[in-house]
Amino acid sequence: MAADRSFYITTPIFYVNDVPHIGHAYTEVAADVLARWHRQAGDDTWLLTGTDEHGQKILRTAVANDTDPKSWADRLVAEAWLPLLDTIDIANDDFIRTTDERHESAVQVFLQKLYDDGFIYSGEYEGYYCVGCEEYKQKDELLEVDGDLVCAIHGRPVEVLKERNYFFRMSEFQDRLIELYESQPDFIQPESVRNEIMHFVKQGLADLSISRSSFDWGIKIPWDESHVVYVWFEALMNYITAIGYGTDDVNFARRWPGTHIVGKDIARFHAVVWPATLMAAGLEVPKRVFGHGWLLVGGEKMSKSKLTGIAPSDITDTFGTDAFRFYFMSAIHFGQDGSFSWEDLSARYNAELANGFGNLASRVIAMVNKYFDGLIPAPSGYLDADLAIQRTVAKAAEDADAAIERLLINEAIEAIWTIVDELNGYITVQEPWVLAKSSDTRERLATVIYTVSEGLRALAVLLSPVMPKATAKLWEAIGADGLGPLTEQPIREAGSWGVLQPGTAVRALEALFPRVEQDVAAADERR
Ligand code: MSP
Repeated sequence: MAADRSFYITTPIFYVNDVPHIGHAYTEVAADVLARWHRQAGDDTWLLTGTDEHGQKILRTAVANDTDPKSWADRLVAEAWLPLLDTIDIANDDFIRTTDERHESAVQVFLQKLYDDGFIYSGEYEGYYCVGCEEYKQKDELLEVDGDLVCAIHGRPVEVLKERNYFFRMSEFQDRLIELYESQPDFIQPESVRNEIMHFVKQGLADLSISRSSFDWGIKIPWDESHVVYVWFEALMNYITAIGYGTDDVNFARRWPGTHIVGKDIARFHAVVWPATLMAAGLEVPKRVFGHGWLLVGGEKMSKSKLTGIAPSDITDTFGTDAFRFYFMSAIHFGQDGSFSWEDLSARYNAELANGFGNLASRVIAMVNKYFDGLIPAPSGYLDADLAIQRTVAKAAEDADAAIERLLINEAIEAIWTIVDELNGYITVQEPWVLAKSSDTRERLATVIYTVSEGLRALAVLLSPVMPKATAKLWEAIGADGLGPLTEQPIREAGSWGVLQPGTAVRALEALFPRVEQDVAAADERR
C-alpha cells in the first residue's frame, strides 16, 4: 500500500447547453477507471467532475428556452448531468459547478492576484469568435462557406467581436511552456497531441482576451464589474477551486498538482492556457494532460449538433453499465479516435464478455459445485501448465499497472485479458471432466480447479475498476467476500498467487453477461 501517493484526476467540466452523449461519457469513464484503479491501489485518490455553466452558449440556450441561465443550468444538472454519473457508474469524489459560490469567489481571488502582479491589462480585441466552441478564432482556423466564415468544428458562422477587454499576458510564457514540454515529455500525452501543441506554441503565443462586456452571464471581474470573465479562463480554474485554492491550503497542497483527462479538441486550453495561468500565479503546473481521441459515428466526430449523438442510456439499457465501460475502454486505443457501431459493440460483447469472461466464470463455479460440493479444493503439486497460469497472472497484473501508470487503459485491459484467454485454453487442455472420471486423478482435478478459481479471483480484482458490478457479483460467487470487500483488494498485489482459501464455499452465479441478440435488434430499430 502506498497511501502517501496522491492521485488527483479530473474530467473536463461539461457544458450544460445540452444533454450528455456517449462522447462525454467516454471521458468520464476513462477518468473513473483510472481513479478506481488508484483508489484500489491505496493511493490518496480524488476524482473531480462537474459542469461549465457560464458564457454565451448557455445564456443563448436558456433564452431560447424562455428561461434564465441559472434555472436552465439547475435543470440540466439535475435531470441530465448528475443522472449520467449513475448511468455509467462513476464514483466521483466531488462535482463542481462553475456557478458554485466556492468557485466564483476563488476565481475572483485568483484573478485579482494576476491583476495585482501585472499579468492582466486592458486592451482592444478585434477578431472572430465561435460561440459553439466559446473560443476566439484565427482566420486560418475557419472555413469559407457561401461567403460566410464558419467554424470548422461547429459548421456555423463565427461572430466578429470588437470589444474593450482585459488581456492575460500569455505571450510572456512561451519559453517556459516549451521548456516544460521538453523537460517533462509526458506532460502532454499522447505524442500526436504533444507534437501539435509544441508546434502551436513554437509559432508564438498571443496574449489572451480574458473578459467580455457585451453580456453578463459570468463571474464579474473584481476590479471592473462591467466585465465578466471569459468562460474558458474561469472554467479551467475549477480544477483548483474545487480542492481549496484560496480557502483550504492544506487540502490544496494535498491534492495539487493533478492529472487532466480531456478530449484532444480542448487539449490546447489545458496544455497551453492553463499552465501559463498557473505559472503567472506562481503555482505548480498539472502533472499531466492526456488528450484522448474522438468517438466517431459514420466517420465524423459524434455530436449532438450534427445529430449523431447517442445517449449513454441507449447502450446501457441493453448491454448494461459494465459492458458500456468495458467496450469503450478496451475497443478504442486510448489517445486515438475510435469508430462506434452497434455491430462492433454487440460482436465484442458476445465474444469477449458473454463467451470469454462470463462463460469462464460460470464454468468454474459449476465445476466447483459439481466436483467438490461447492467448496474450493486445495491444490497440490503444481505442474508446468499450472505454473504457467501463475506466471500469466503475475505478468498481467504487473503489465496492467504499468499501463495504467502511463494512462493507457486499453493496454491494461489487454494485459488482463491474457488471463481470460489462458484460463479458457487451460481448461480445454486439462479437461477437468476427464480427470473427474477416476479417483486416481482426484488430486490433479483439485489443483486444476483451484488454479482456475484463483485465476478468477485475480480477474475480479483487476477488472473491478473497469466493471465494478460484474466483478462484485463474481467476488461473492467465488466466496471471496471473506477476504474483505473487492474494492479494498490491493490491486498492485493482484498477481500474487494463493490468496483464495481452499474450503471456501462458492455461491450461485447468474450469467454475468446474458446474451443480447434480441435486444440488439430492438436497439437497431430505435436508431
Ligand atoms: N466546457 C468545456 C470543457 C471545460 S474544461 C475546463 C467543454 N465541454 S464539452 O461538454 O463540450 O465537452 C466535454 C468533453 O467531451 C471534451 O473533452 C470533449 O472532447 C468531449 N467530447 C465531446 N464530443 C466527443 C466525442 N465525439 N468523442 C469523444 N469525446 C468528445 O469542452
